[in-house]
Amino acid sequence: MNIVITGASRGIGFETAKRLASLGDNNIVAISRDEAKLKELKNACIRENVQAHLYPIPFNLEDTALVETQLLAKVKQYVTSIDIIINNAGALVNRPFELLAAAEMLRMINVNLMAPALVVKTLLPMLSRPAHVVNISSMGGFQGSVKFPGLSMYSATKAGLASLTECLAEEFKDKQVSFNCLALGAVQTEMLGEAFPGLVAPLRAHEMAELVADFAINGNRFFNGKVIPVSKATP
Ligand SMILES: NC(=O)c1ccc[n+]([C@@H]2O[C@H](COP(=O)([O-])OP(=O)(O)OC[C@H]3O[C@@H](n4cnc5c(N)ncnc54)[C@H](OP(=O)(O)O)[C@@H]3O)[C@@H](O)[C@H]2O)c1
Repeated sequence: MNIVITGASRGIGFETAKRLASLGDNNIVAISRDEAKLKELKNACIRENVQAHLYPIPFNLEDTALVETQLLAKVKQYVTSIDIIINNAGALVNRPFELLAAAEMLRMINVNLMAPALVVKTLLPMLSRPAHVVNISSMGGFQGSVKFPGLSMYSATKAGLASLTECLAEEFKDKQVSFNCLALGAVQTEMLGEAFPGLVAPLRAHEMAELVADFAINGNRFFNGKVIPVSKATP
C-alpha cells in the first residue's frame, strides 16, 4: 500500500510510520519539518526491515499556501497513487485562554485543522479507490469529554477535525473514500509533556502506533465517518 503520514518525526507518528514500514510491501511517505529526524526514521525502518520503503518529505504544514501549491508535486516524486492518508501532525500550546496570542491560536488552527483538510484536498487526485483517510484527534476534542484549562484552542481545533471527518465521509460516501477519526487519550510523548507536565500516560507511542497502523489498514472495512475514542484513562 502507498501511505502518506504527517507528523512522522517523533512520537506517535514516528512509531506508526515505523510499524507500517515493517508490514508487507508498503511505501511510506513521511512528512514533518525536521529533515534530520525523518532521516533517523528512515534508518530505524531499514534496521527493522531492510526492504522498507520510506520517503521523507521535510515540509511545514503550518504554511497552508505551501500545502496547496507544493505538496502534490512532492508526494508524486515517490508514489503514483495513495491508499491511506494519516493526518497525525499536531500542534499544542498550553496556555490560559486570556494569555494565548492570536498567532498561537492560528498555528494550532493551521496545523490541526486546515492542514488535514488541505492535505486531503490537494492529494485527492492521487487517491486510490478505495482509500482511507485517518484523522488523529484528541479526547480533548471529543464531545462531552472532560475538558482542561489551557487547552481551549487545541481542543477546539481537534473537535473541528472530528466534525470535518464526519462531513467528508458523507460527501465522499459514494466515491469509495472513507474518513475516520481516532480521538486519542494520553500517550507518553513530547506533546503530552506540554499538555500535562509530569503525567505518566498509560500508553507509550509504539503501543498506540499498533492501533493507529492496524486501523489505517483495516478500519475502513468496518467504519466510515466515525469518531472513535481510544482512551484508557482521563486524561
Ligand atoms: N500524546 C498524546 O497524549 C496525544 C493525545 C491526544 C491526541 N494526540 C494527537 O496525536 C498526534 C501525534 O501527537 P504526539 O503526541 O506524537 O505529538 P508530538 O510528539 O509533539 O509530535 C507532533 C508531530 O507533529 C509534527 N508537526 C507539528 N507541527 C508541524 C508542522 N507545522 N508541519 C509539519 N509537521 C508538524 C511534528 O514534526 P516536526 O516538529 O518535525 O515538524 C511531530 O512529528 C497529534 O495530532 C496529537 O494532537 C496526542
